[in-house]
Amino acid sequence: MSMQPNSDASERIARIAAHLNPHNLNMEENDSCSLMGSNCRSKGGAPGFKVAILGAAGGIGQPLSMLMKINPLVSVLHLYDVVNTPGVTADISHMDTGAVVRGFLGQKQLEDALIGMDLVIIPAGVPRKPGMTRDDLFNINAGIVKTLCEAIAKSCPKAIVNLISNPVNSTVPIAAEVFKRAGTYDPSRLLGVTMLDVVRANTFVAEVLGLDPREVNVPVVGGHAGITILPLLSQVKPPSSFTPKEIEYLTDRIQNGGTEVVEAKAGAGSATLSMAYAAVKFADACLRALRGDAGIIECAYVDSKVTELPFFASKVRLGRGGVEEILPLGPLNDYEREGLEKAKKELVVSVEKGVSFARK
Ligand code: NAD
Ligand code: LMR
Repeated sequence: MSMQPNSDASERIARIAAHLNPHNLNMEENDSCSLMGSNCRSKGGAPGFKVAILGAAGGIGQPLSMLMKINPLVSVLHLYDVVNTPGVTADISHMDTGAVVRGFLGQKQLEDALIGMDLVIIPAGVPRKPGMTRDDLFNINAGIVKTLCEAIAKSCPKAIVNLISNPVNSTVPIAAEVFKRAGTYDPSRLLGVTMLDVVRANTFVAEVLGLDPREVNVPVVGGHAGITILPLLSQVKPPSSFTPKEIEYLTDRIQNGGTEVVEAKAGAGSATLSMAYAAVKFADACLRALRGDAGIIECAYVDSKVTELPFFASKVRLGRGGVEEILPLGPLNDYEREGLEKAKKELVVSVEKGVSFARK
């Protein structure tokens, strides 16, 4: 039997000993390479925008938070709600995308959630049940929006605000009054989100025309409730013509798309998933505009001079400062002109209701 040379044996023992007694960790802590919270590489965060979602634990808030965590333009994502944000934040923070996620729970943490934000998205508030109108949500949601906007005025007065909470036709005027009172109102930074109406219109029109919905663009103007939702089918892209029957069907379906979902959910809320998709589509447009991309045009409910009403949804051009231009309505046909008059009658009442609530 041949013996191992002594030198081999001692090398093997040295290797085992090194394994049992690894490289001195204290030494590493003393040099600048050690992994401690204070010198973790994620400290500076990825370049990008800081976004807060208020109402982040809700039916819209959760998928919206998840989709914003995927958005490469977002570096910091603050999730605020009055319930359940620790769980939602822990869950979403494990996604291996660039944005750093932080959770904030309850009113005491609201201002911290907002400090330094570039964009604030608000889906906080109660949703409809079958048989209710969006205006039936006013009594609860008006107060919620007022409180949240007061905090925005204090903590991030220059942020772009995307307001989703219903009734949008009244909550946007409430937000404007709150910001005016705080001396921070910049009409170009307050946008009521009507993107879901456009998303629905694109989908339903594409179905009728037999096209891919991604190739269809339907301007939807007015407001975000029933007859105030006015699709301009004469301006559909690609240019298309419709029979009177198709126009009736499409207008009715687009105006009542929200109710279609409320009834199908049968008491379990209103649109959440398609709304989260629409909200991210809109927020992404706002962030690309903030970054300096040119030619970004979307529909939104904003402070406007397009009609005699103080707020109106129409196509707007987005830029670094938010809304940089409100585009004219363009030529309307008789059917659309008639629809516009009906929409304005209802809108004026909703705007006034919001303004007088906020001024009380
Ligand atoms: P939801 O009840 O599932 O979630 C709402 C969330 O808001 C909840 O997590 C709740 O805790 C939170 N909340 C309540 N009060 C709050 C406060 N003071 N501060 C922060 N968070 C608060 O409702 P949802 O389905 O997510 O809908 C939310 C709102 O969005 C509703 O008003 C609904 O009508 C509206 N909505 C608008 C559109 C649109 O196109 N603009 C589309 C769909 C829904
Ligand atoms: C929608 O259009 O789906 C939302 O406004 C929710 C609702 O109440 O219809």
